[in-house]
Amino acid sequence: MSAERDIKFTAADFRRLRQMLYQRVGISLNDSKSHMAYSRLAKRVRQLGFRQFSDYLDLLDGSAETEEWQHFVNALTTNLTAFFREPHHFDLLRLHAMERAGQDRLYRVWSSAVSTGEEAYSIAMTLLSLPQLNRQRLEVVASDIDTRVLSHAADGVYDAERTRTLDTALLKRYFLRGVGRNAGKVRIRKELREHLSFYQFNLVAEPWPDMGRFDVIFCRNVLIYFDKPTQAAILQRFARCLQPDGLLFLGHSENIMHLTDAFQSCGRTAYRLLGQDARE
Ligand SMILES: C[S@@+](CC[C@H](N)C(=O)[O-])C[C@H]1O[C@@H](n2cnc3c(N)ncnc32)[C@H](O)[C@@H]1O
Repeated sequence: MSAERDIKFTAADFRRLRQMLYQRVGISLNDSKSHMAYSRLAKRVRQLGFRQFSDYLDLLDGSAETEEWQHFVNALTTNLTAFFREPHHFDLLRLHAMERAGQDRLYRVWSSAVSTGEEAYSIAMTLLSLPQLNRQRLEVVASDIDTRVLSHAADGVYDAERTRTLDTALLKRYFLRGVGRNAGKVRIRKELREHLSFYQFNLVAEPWPDMGRFDVIFCRNVLIYFDKPTQAAILQRFARCLQPDGLLFLGHSENIMHLTDAFQSCGRTAYRLLGQDARE
C-alpha cells in the first residue's frame, strides 16, 4: 500500500460515500472521482484516528446533523469561481435592472451557489454602477451549501491576483489594498459588502425556506453536478421564486430547455421566466 493510501478505501466504500453525498447534496460523483474523494477526505479520516474509510462512513451514518457531515460536504464540493466570470450575464443583468430602475420595491438578486463570493460581489458592483438604480433598493442574497467558502465570501478578503482583470476604477472604489502582513491581499469595502447577505442553503433540501421573490437568480456551474431529475426539481422551484419576467443565469455548459417549460432562452445560458399562460 502506498503512503498516500495508508487508509483503506475500497470500491464499496466509494460507492457508499457517493450515495451518501448524493442523498445529502445532490452531487453525483462518477467513477473517475474515487481518487479525488480519497485525497480530499483521507486527512480527516486519519485525524479522527480511523484506519479505514468504512469506519468514518459509519460515524457519519450514525449521526444526523453533526459538524462532521458539514466537514464531509465541504471537502467534496468544487468551488472554482472568479470575479465577472462569464461576463455576458452581467451585461444582461445591467439591462434588466435598468428597465426596472423606477420600480417601487427592492431589486433582488440571488447568487444561489456563490462559492467564495466573487459572483455576488460582481453582481453588486454591476448594479451599483447604474446611476438610475436607487442603491437603497438593492439586495444581493448569497448562499452556498459549503460553510467554509461562505465564511470566506462574508470576510471578503482575496488574493490581489484574483482581481487582476478588474478595471482600475472598480478596484479603487470597492477594494482596500492590504499592507504589512496583508500585503498581496485585498478586502471588499463596507459600502459594497453591506448590500449582500450570506446564508447556508442546500438547493436539494426540502422544503426551501421562503426567501421572497427575486428579480434574478444566478445558479451557475452547480447544476452540472446534479442528475436530470434533481436539476428539473430545482428549476421548478426557481420558477416559483422569480418575479414575472425574472431572469435565471446558468453556467456555460448547463442547458435546461429539455427539462422545463417555465423558461425561455434569452441569451447565452440566460433564461427568462415565462408567464403561466405561455407555458405548454
Ligand atoms: C463551481 S462552484 C460555482 C461558483 C459560482 N456560481 C460560479 O459559477 O463561479 C459550485 C458551488 O456550488 C456549491 N454547491 C454544491 N452543491 C450544492 C447544493 N446542493 N446546494 C447549494 N450549493 C451547492 C458548491 O459548494 C460550490 O461552491
